[in-house]
Amino acid sequence: MQEKLNATLQEINIAQPANAEELENFRLKFLSRKGLLNDLFEEFKTVPNEQKREMGKLMNEVKTAAEAKFNELKEKLENSTIQSTVDFDLTAPGEPSEIGSRHPLSIIRNEIISIFSRIGYTVQDGQEIEDDWHNFSALNFPEEHPARDMQDTFFIAPLPPEGGTSQSHEPLDGKRDSKHPPSGGRGAALRTHTSSVQVRLMESGKPPFRSIMPGRVFRNEAISARAHCIFHQVEGLYIDENVSFADLKQTLLYFAREMFGEKTQIRLRPSYFPFTEPSAEMDVSCFICEGKGCNICKYSGWVEILGCGMVDPNVLDNCGIDSKKYTGFAFGMGIERITMLKYRINDLRLFFENDQRFLNQFKSAI
Ligand code: DAH
Repeated sequence: MQEKLNATLQEINIAQPANAEELENFRLKFLSRKGLLNDLFEEFKTVPNEQKREMGKLMNEVKTAAEAKFNELKEKLENSTIQSTVDFDLTAPGEPSEIGSRHPLSIIRNEIISIFSRIGYTVQDGQEIEDDWHNFSALNFPEEHPARDMQDTFFIAPLPPEGGTSQSHEPLDGKRDSKHPPSGGRGAALRTHTSSVQVRLMESGKPPFRSIMPGRVFRNEAISARAHCIFHQVEGLYIDENVSFADLKQTLLYFAREMFGEKTQIRLRPSYFPFTEPSAEMDVSCFICEGKGCNICKYSGWVEILGCGMVDPNVLDNCGIDSKKYTGFAFGMGIERITMLKYRINDLRLFFENDQRFLNQFKSAI
């Protein structure tokens, strides 16, 4: 009997009913008419008289413990129920939690990706630290050619030559002067345009290629409302048999209308890029004044959007693609420029300042 009482006491002490249902189970188990304590009282009747005093004491202890525990937990549960009705009005409207907003450049980049993915373009990633080959030489920038000056490059300390491999690539120091002495080996630079990803893509496999390549680019420019040393581009490349200039034009017209509205017109002006021949720059009819003339298009009715052209056969050959069999086109556009036009932002620096008052304006545009 004594053992049973002790075991029951221990069980009561460790019981921890956490809700109304468990508390009721506790009551049924120990305190109800069919509960353990009643059984023990029945058994107590059979205890020899000389032990009754001691057993009776223990019996009472067990009973008090069970009742105390029950009352204590009951009170606790009741209080927490009252508390919760005070704290939570389940009928009250929920408080919306603040969500962030996408950066305007991300919004436009995603839109460009979405437009081109609808006509079968995949997205290709590249690297921001490049060598001279991928940023310049493979793209048909001749050594010492002034075209390299079109893009003020951030050079990084030349890399040590790779053990034993022949240096088939041009040295990094396309712009040789006192600041950029010949490195005699491969060097590194921050890519000045996403056209370098074209080269990596073409080197990596066999045509057809149909990809766009968004990414961050770097140029050693003074920061102003119209220029920055870091900005973003999207490159496009389509290589296959029989790809023509007409395909390029139609693809860009599709893009322009998806991006700026279905009434948009395009025009292509002859231009020069080392990696395309022929090359062109594309203007879209001003989507703000619809070509009538406003301060966004500087009263010309047109705004310049991108550079493009047929991939120069030299570039194809440089990347191991048979230029007699394949042709293709490429284009490159600045994400900042398109974002500024679409949202009428007049200072490039706003994109990099992370001012919440600026960024919060794009909440609804996600
Ligand atoms: N890479 C050029 C730049 O940064 C943009 C460009 C022009 C890319 C013509 C192209 C292209 O792919 O065909 O100014």
